[in-house]
Amino acid sequence: MISVSVPATSANLGVGYDVLGLALDLKARFTFETSTQKLEIVGDDPDFANEQNLIYQAFATFAKAIHQPVPNLRITVDSDIPSSRGLGSSATCVVGGIAAANAWFHAGWDRTQLLKLAAKMEGHPDNAAPAIFGQLCATILADTEPIVRQYPVSSQLQLVTFIPDYAVSTAEARQILPTTMTYADAAYQMGRCVLMTRALADGDLRLLHQVAHDRMQEPYRATLIPDYQAVRQLVTAANSVLLISGSGSTLLAIVEGATAARQLQAAASQQWPAWRVQIVQPSTEGVRVSES
Ligand code: HSE
Repeated sequence: MISVSVPATSANLGVGYDVLGLALDLKARFTFETSTQKLEIVGDDPDFANEQNLIYQAFATFAKAIHQPVPNLRITVDSDIPSSRGLGSSATCVVGGIAAANAWFHAGWDRTQLLKLAAKMEGHPDNAAPAIFGQLCATILADTEPIVRQYPVSSQLQLVTFIPDYAVSTAEARQILPTTMTYADAAYQMGRCVLMTRALADGDLRLLHQVAHDRMQEPYRATLIPDYQAVRQLVTAANSVLLISGSGSTLLAIVEGATAARQLQAAASQQWPAWRVQIVQPSTEGVRVSES
């Protein structure tokens, strides 16, 4: 049996659209073993228990890439990560399926090769990179070759995820974005993206406040999250920084200190009792695969 664990990820960090992504300590766990049927999927939403399942599709895509037949599979799913909430659940499926197939066939692909295939399936690399490598990653694709560098995140910073009880479709959240931006906006954005990595590494909340102003995607996507302004108000009053996690609907607050994080969590849980408001930590670990 192959067992895989993959971390949730928060892509973009606001100003790093399609480039930055941070691994979190929420995990999806999958197992893969031989079945007497073509495919059994256990533990996933019944809507996803079929051959279109992304974990299975990723496994099959890997098998095809190395010219191997897809075996009869029983896949079990045990995930802490809600789907369509901007926490990289689809990247966990893609990375989980590919990494499991790599072990199943003893193919020996390294993490960059896995990322190349995962980024192709996902359409962008910023969730898949931290899901594979862990930590805060900046990733570019040189043609289709991924180039990844990891950055530290200061332990002084605390992360609070506001996970609403409604989804946002990534496809819709990409479609509403404009197709061009001005040189002035591009320069504005580049500076903030570079300094965001420094602010996170140094735990510099003042710098975070100065750089967390995105012009590429957040202003458009905020309109897809009905409670965005109310959450912003709460988080700003707590002297914390608010980002949209990936394409939403989850909102990510960056807070200084554990006490402030707990206070923000308590206030938000009271205001939105149906939401999951959770303090999370960056995960230094990416995908893990074991065989038994
Ligand atoms: N960078 C991607 C986007 C992440 O913002 O559309 C999607 O989760």
